[in-house]
Amino acid sequence: MTLKLEAGTKLVAATHNPGKAKELHALLDGRFEVLTAGSLNIPEPDETETTFVGNALLKARHAADLSGQIALADDSGLSVTVLDGAPGIYSARWAGPEKDFRMAMDKVAERIEETGSEDRSAWFTCALAVAWPNGGPAVVVQGEVHGTLIFPPRGDRGFGYDPIFIPDGYDQTFGEMDPAAKDAMSHRAVAFEKLKAALFD
Ligand code: IMP
Repeated sequence: MTLKLEAGTKLVAATHNPGKAKELHALLDGRFEVLTAGSLNIPEPDETETTFVGNALLKARHAADLSGQIALADDSGLSVTVLDGAPGIYSARWAGPEKDFRMAMDKVAERIEETGSEDRSAWFTCALAVAWPNGGPAVVVQGEVHGTLIFPPRGDRGFGYDPIFIPDGYDQTFGEMDPAAKDAMSHRAVAFEKLKAALFD
């Protein structure tokens, strides 16, 4: 069985957000028809794994098995060196049900202060998984971008933890940068390049 995907293949994105399906369609160069798990009434599974790759694969397998079609899922987050990789897979959960990232960034700052360390290094990770249904094969890739955290947060052009992260080699945070510049070098860009190399002829 080949893991290359023909143009026009239907992919179920493990999300309930129609905007995210559109974004995934574009990130895969418009080669595939992307529909959401939400539109097929497939519930979101609990993210019970302990790694980005584990959670991406769990979500892709769940969507593939319940839809009977090839499925794509992602999992991403911010990891801080002196916090042993936290918030990591809990990045969204640190912002609470209100998705309050000011609070989440304050929590990151407090936790770092508590360590007494001067180290402000951190990295974003994006794991992507494509799974074939019924326990079929899967492709999993991971992209990272490394950088330094800065407090207080700077810039309002991004989302999530963007305002506290300056990627290596730059002097602006992801929140200040031109979004196109971020999209060209982010953890997501690295992961999608790897995925395309694995799936495209
Ligand atoms: P997921 O949607 O469960 O994968 O959660 C991803 C979490 O990591 C969200 O809370 C995001 O805010 C955060 N995150 C992932 N990528 C980025 C990024 O590029 N910038 C800022 N925050 C990010």
